[in-house]
Amino acid sequence: MNKKIRNILKKKNKSKIVSLTAYSKNIAKILDKHIDIVLVGDSMANVLYGHKDTHKINLENIIQHTLSVKQGVSKSLLVVDMPKGSYNNFKTAEKNAKRVIKITKCDAIKIESNKKNYEIIKFLVRKKIPVMGHIGYTPQFKKKFKVEGQNKSEINKLLKEAKLIEQAGAFSIVLECLSSFAAKLITSKLKIPTIGIGSSSNCDGQILVTDDMLGISGFYPKFVKKYIKLDRIIEKAVKKYTREVKLQKFPTKKNFLNGTKFRK
Ligand code: KIV
Repeated sequence: MNKKIRNILKKKNKSKIVSLTAYSKNIAKILDKHIDIVLVGDSMANVLYGHKDTHKINLENIIQHTLSVKQGVSKSLLVVDMPKGSYNNFKTAEKNAKRVIKITKCDAIKIESNKKNYEIIKFLVRKKIPVMGHIGYTPQFKKKFKVEGQNKSEINKLLKEAKLIEQAGAFSIVLECLSSFAAKLITSKLKIPTIGIGSSSNCDGQILVTDDMLGISGFYPKFVKKYIKLDRIIEKAVKKYTREVKLQKFPTKKNFLNGTKFRK
């Protein structure tokens, strides 16, 4: 097993796992210094491409962005979301997962659960492909956003689903938008780490979409904490630049090249 994955597994019940999404090198490089897992999420469909859901992102989009992210990641575990339709059956799943890993040199892939694809996970793990699972609100398969695990029967179903994913060989699992009761129970019953998003602090780790926590996505559900209002900072810089260009305050002689060395 990959050493980075072993280190993630060791954190269960010891220290919290910190994860964020990245779609490009410059952001990934900043995250890599501080966090445990960088996910190239198919959330790029909404966040970057402005689609209304994650369905239109394809494998080539994911590969291109991962190639960029990979350049900024050295220390963290690099996980790549398999887009909708890319793991529908054994053959397709194996071909696509191997292609992603071969081209991008990522450490693992993530697959959303549709409550039926446990055998696909098992098959991929047998082929030595590390898989992260994903239950709860799974945007590839669910149209309506809803907090899951709000009563006993729902909680038991989610626990069963999580256990089947663990048994299939996944090394960790994302719990998206689960009640805190459900997250607590699942986290206590699984041996693999749970990574929560909108699922309370009762998980082994947390993930957020980076653009949301930086305040530049325009999407801020209750579970997102905006750690900075980067949109305002960017706007301030853009306004200053605009003013200076118009007033001919930029560029100054300091910015002229005049045959001097160009920044690498
Ligand atoms: O696509 C994504 O960014 C994700 C996270 C929200 C877990 O799947």
